[in-house]
Amino acid sequence: MTDIPRKILVTSALPYANGPIHLGHLVEYIQTDIWVRFQKLRGHQCHYVCADDTHGTPIMLRAEKEGITPEQLIARVWAEHKADFDGFLVGFDNYYSTNSPETRHYADDIYTKLKAAGLIEVRAIEQYYDPVKEMFLPDRFIKGECPKCHAKDQYGDSCEACGTTYSPTDLLNPYSAVSGATPIRKQSDHHFFKLGACADFLRGWIQPPRVQAESANKLAEWLDAGLSDWDISRDAPYFGFEIPGAPGKYYYVWLDAPIGYMGSFRNYCDKNGLDFDAFWDKHKAAQAGTELYHFIGKDILYFHALFWPAELESAGYRTPTGVFAHGFLTVNGTKMSKSRGTFITASSYLQHLNPEWLRYYFAAKLGSGVDDIDLNLEDFVARVNSDLVGKYINIASRAAGFIHKLFGGSIPVASHTIQGFSSWDAKTIIEEARKGRGVALEQMTGFLRERSEEIAKFYDEREYAKAMRRIMELADLVNQVFDAFEPWKAAKTDHALAGQVCGAVLEGFRILSIFLHPVLPKLTNEALAFLNSPRLGESGSPTWENAVFASLFAGHTINTYQPLMTRIDPKQIDALIAANTQSMAPAPESHSQARHAEHQQHETQTAMDPIAETISIDDFAKVDLRVARIAAAAYVEGADKLLQLTLDLGGETRNVFAGIRSAYEPKDLEGRLTVMVANLAPRKMKFGLSEGMVLAAGPGGKELFILSPDAGAQPGMRIK
Ligand code: 2FM
Ligand code: ZN
Repeated sequence: MTDIPRKILVTSALPYANGPIHLGHLVEYIQTDIWVRFQKLRGHQCHYVCADDTHGTPIMLRAEKEGITPEQLIARVWAEHKADFDGFLVGFDNYYSTNSPETRHYADDIYTKLKAAGLIEVRAIEQYYDPVKEMFLPDRFIKGECPKCHAKDQYGDSCEACGTTYSPTDLLNPYSAVSGATPIRKQSDHHFFKLGACADFLRGWIQPPRVQAESANKLAEWLDAGLSDWDISRDAPYFGFEIPGAPGKYYYVWLDAPIGYMGSFRNYCDKNGLDFDAFWDKHKAAQAGTELYHFIGKDILYFHALFWPAELESAGYRTPTGVFAHGFLTVNGTKMSKSRGTFITASSYLQHLNPEWLRYYFAAKLGSGVDDIDLNLEDFVARVNSDLVGKYINIASRAAGFIHKLFGGSIPVASHTIQGFSSWDAKTIIEEARKGRGVALEQMTGFLRERSEEIAKFYDEREYAKAMRRIMELADLVNQVFDAFEPWKAAKTDHALAGQVCGAVLEGFRILSIFLHPVLPKLTNEALAFLNSPRLGESGSPTWENAVFASLFAGHTINTYQPLMTRIDPKQIDALIAANTQSMAPAPESHSQARHAEHQQHETQTAMDPIAETISIDDFAKVDLRVARIAAAAYVEGADKLLQLTLDLGGETRNVFAGIRSAYEPKDLEGRLTVMVANLAPRKMKFGLSEGMVLAAGPGGKELFILSPDAGAQPGMRIK
């Protein structure tokens, strides 16, 4: 890192105050929280604020239905959301509400400045109006018959039966979903933000790295299509802020929602004596070099990368440094579903499972792009059990006993390098360890430290999946070194060597705990407490670098090992699914959920392939399956499905063309262990000879999964 700490303000999208937090939401909060914890650990000044998004018609009607005031509803939901976020260790520095004096202040300020700049226009529009309820109806509150397929009871914006989108006036036999009355058409004045006037500014603004490449393309398409004026007002009755000088007109919820970021930060600054302007005033922010990042779902890119910067720029505020969009969550390859029990709420998850399991799994899946991620529940169990428990925690549980038994809980010798890096590669370290050479231990800890900046870069670039893969490779290495020395044998003959080995692998465990801290703040701090090492992420805690380059010295005592994390029992998953299964799928509770659901159109659920006919053990033995290291991976010119892999079988190498390009990038494969059929007759292809086959599961496209052996497997080992 640079020596000068960065000054960063980070936000996640504000959840609506009328529905529970579910696993789909958590992708974003966990993604953001990992980034924030990482930046703090690096010694930067990083503030993370959020709030409930409290305004709008759905919240007003929901409160009315429950017989309470909107204020009572949002207070209750705020407490529920806060408890869910705390449960998932999402460490906001301030969790606030858009229904706050601060948000009102900045909404009025921005509106007034836009008006002064001639960017607000008032004109009459005609909309559907519920004559019984005496209110204008948002699209989602008008239902009727689909003009295309004639399905009944469809929403005013799209048909759930045939997927057609239309405007509410196209519906046949429309009725109000609030009162059932037939709506009438009625005129009223609306306030519009003249977004078109900002087109030139936006064209220059929507460039990477401010937005991701995929987002930049989408935004350019929208700009090319032309920007319409944005309707920012709604008529009474409406739960929100009344527009100054316009009685009966309220800011549309999407106008004051992002301003809620400012409101929450203002509230935080006032409580903590921080300078709000250094983060939001255009000139002061430039002078102070502060950064502002919004983490959002890809479905609200339009609001955050067009409306929002246009408003800020026009009102003299700073614009975001970066808008980071992520994809949606599918569960078992398909959209979350109440009838399948995969629409899982945060609170229900917390009743059944450990939040850090999910944090790890999401991290292991998340990259910097906008691709959807899948929570495959079987894979979730397998990966958490094998990586976290089988690789990471395993190191401590294996080594601690020896230190206690042989050395009374104190590290006998600091055999490991502190500042020094390793001059060996992983293979050499393991080979030398097999020969019982103690120097392999210093090389191992040096090798881990040497990876710290690469891992830090992955975190900073939001490439968490790459970071997790690298960290697990290092955990594999530590386990392999431990195995290679066979300290359980040395414990009988050569105490000193056994002590040296256990001390070094615990040092490795300490370094891995630092690397994993942004993802697993609780577990890693428990691990560090077991090692009697300083906790991370608290005031006075060491930074990433200081922690990585500290060391367990000779004479340092550790605590008795208590199991730090249990394996997931698949029965816990069954119970979670059962608890979330509803026999009937009710209508979505909120506009937000409906909108998310609309975007989750991934009907890629894999039908179970019938099991093939029975074979004998001799038939199976004919297939020579081997562990292989992917030594190199490359694109194949002219073949859009293939990757060319050089597979190391621990002595010989094979050239294999594999049809996995749609799911993997070469750089993600290099160095990985996988499984290959080694005795398949070579096949001549247009591009060269393919000398075997790697194994992969899944329906295809992005859903292809190559296999990985468990820790300890070596290239060339036969799979029997
Ligand atoms: O889509 C949503 O759930 C909105 N409540 C997000 C608002 S983000 C920000 F603009 F406030
Ligand atoms: Zn239809």
